Amino acid sequence: MKQSFDKGFVTPLPVFIIAVYDENGNANAMNAAWVGQVGGNLISLSLSPSHKTTANIRVNKEFTVSFATKEYVEACDYVGMVSGSKVPDKLEKCGFTVTKSDKVNAPVIDQLPVAIECKVAEIQEEFGETRIIAEIVGLKADDSVLTDGKVDLSKVRPIMFDSVARCYREIGEIVGGAWSAGKKFM
Ligand SMILES: Cc1cc2nc3c(=O)[nH]c(=O)nc-3n(C[C@H](O)[C@H](O)[C@H](O)COP(=O)(O)O)c2cc1C
Repeated sequence: MKQSFDKGFVTPLPVFIIAVYDENGNANAMNAAWVGQVGGNLISLSLSPSHKTTANIRVNKEFTVSFATKEYVEACDYVGMVSGSKVPDKLEKCGFTVTKSDKVNAPVIDQLPVAIECKVAEIQEEFGETRIIAEIVGLKADDSVLTDGKVDLSKVRPIMFDSVARCYREIGEIVGGAWSAGKKFM
């Protein structure tokens, strides 16, 4: 028998580290889980208007999104706990360094192996949130996470956010092929 609840949730949620420069070229980053791919080449971020990152994206209109990994879970959590408005050196404090992307005017976090490079397409204000729709214009990936020239998620080891238990989980094993496992019923 199924129990009925008044509140729902969505899973899996990603753990994405949004990195952006402020108007003086200082790098900042935050943790974001309310992010999704909303088209072949578009992502949507749902950000609180009060975040430093939100203000920086409004000015800069370009940013990167790195996939959080098990190895750097503490630093990825930390950037979601303190604001760059109060702790300007928050990246230094958790051991993150950055390199400027050659495709967008935004920092790429050196320690995280994969980052997508994004340009804002539209900013919407709805439900008290700032929704950023952005085009993905490029991707940076360390050699260490490539297999045959492609990003290999079993090497990246991205983590997901569990909003029920309020923790991070590692994304697990392959359980079936997409557009393939279902052939069993054809
Ligand atoms: C697991 C996790 C997920 C989060 N997801 C979001 C999110 O999707 N949107 C948002 O506005 N804030 C989110 N936050 C909160 C911001 O990361 C946090 O307030 C951060 O300190 C903002 O930093 P900034 O002011 O330097 O931009 C999340 C925090 C954590 C720990």
